[in-house]
Amino acid sequence: MIELIDVGKVYQASDGDHRALEGVNLRIEDGDIFGIIGESGAGKSTLVRMLNLLERPTEGRIIIDGSDITDYQGRELRELRANIGMILQNFALFQQRTVLQNVTFPLEVRRESKTASAERAHELLRLVNLDDKATRYPSELSGGQQQRVAIARALANEPHYMLCDEATSALDSRTTVQVLDLLARINAELGVTMVVITHSLAVARRICNRIAVIDAGHIVEEGFTADVFANPKSEITHELLDWGDEAVDQPSSKQGVNGEEEVVRG
Ligand SMILES: Nc1ncnc2c1ncn2[C@@H]1O[C@H](COP(=O)(O)OP(=O)(O)OP(=O)(O)O)[C@@H](O)[C@H]1O
Ligand SMILES: [Mg+2]
Repeated sequence: MIELIDVGKVYQASDGDHRALEGVNLRIEDGDIFGIIGESGAGKSTLVRMLNLLERPTEGRIIIDGSDITDYQGRELRELRANIGMILQNFALFQQRTVLQNVTFPLEVRRESKTASAERAHELLRLVNLDDKATRYPSELSGGQQQRVAIARALANEPHYMLCDEATSALDSRTTVQVLDLLARINAELGVTMVVITHSLAVARRICNRIAVIDAGHIVEEGFTADVFANPKSEITHELLDWGDEAVDQPSSKQGVNGEEEVVRG
């Protein structure tokens, strides 16, 4: 379980202090696919980057599985990060490494044997249905395939948590559905708790059991996804709903545009 207690963040920017988050209280339960939605600049990435201490909070505490991680350094910090996989909008794969070598990278860092690493990587590539692309380079894959490699790499350390920051924003709607369904399957089958950042209500609606709506650095609404959609309380949630994007809700109506042919088998 992840708990944020009165968490705030002030950045020291070149033009002075900038408050990105204030008074954030959140509880993400084991097994959740927890959505964080909000407009650009609302503070979503800041919030999620604090969970693995890529950013340090300037106020409040972060508790993960009962331990206060806020001041972790050194070995504790490395272990924390190994327990929290992360995937990003631009995939962030190593371009000079093959698909297999991308997935074995976290295991090399941990000094696992070559054979054990390769075996584990193939297993993960089978999970994301890409074992036949093991010797390819990232540039030889579609966007959806690259994101699936990034997912496999994020799972290499057997994390309990996975952070997804706009993981499908660079993908067309059909590929988005495939990646979202893969994340849902990883949640269901491997029990990985997910924190999914998105500006898309359709993405949130498709996979998140709970969502928090963030506006100008404040959580303005939080609850079961269906309840928030059925009965939005805040102005910003109404706006996001009005603005809405339905494409992801109707996968069959859209064709992929980037050559992504394969469907991830569920
Ligand atoms: N390193 C930084 N230094 C100063 N200000 C920052 C820094 N990173 C982010 N900010 C500011 O903090 C606020 C929140 O940024 P954040 O990246 O968390 O937003 P976001 O909700 O993820 O937006 P987007 O949807 O565009 O990715 C913004 O006003 C941004 O300008
Ligand atoms: Mg962001």
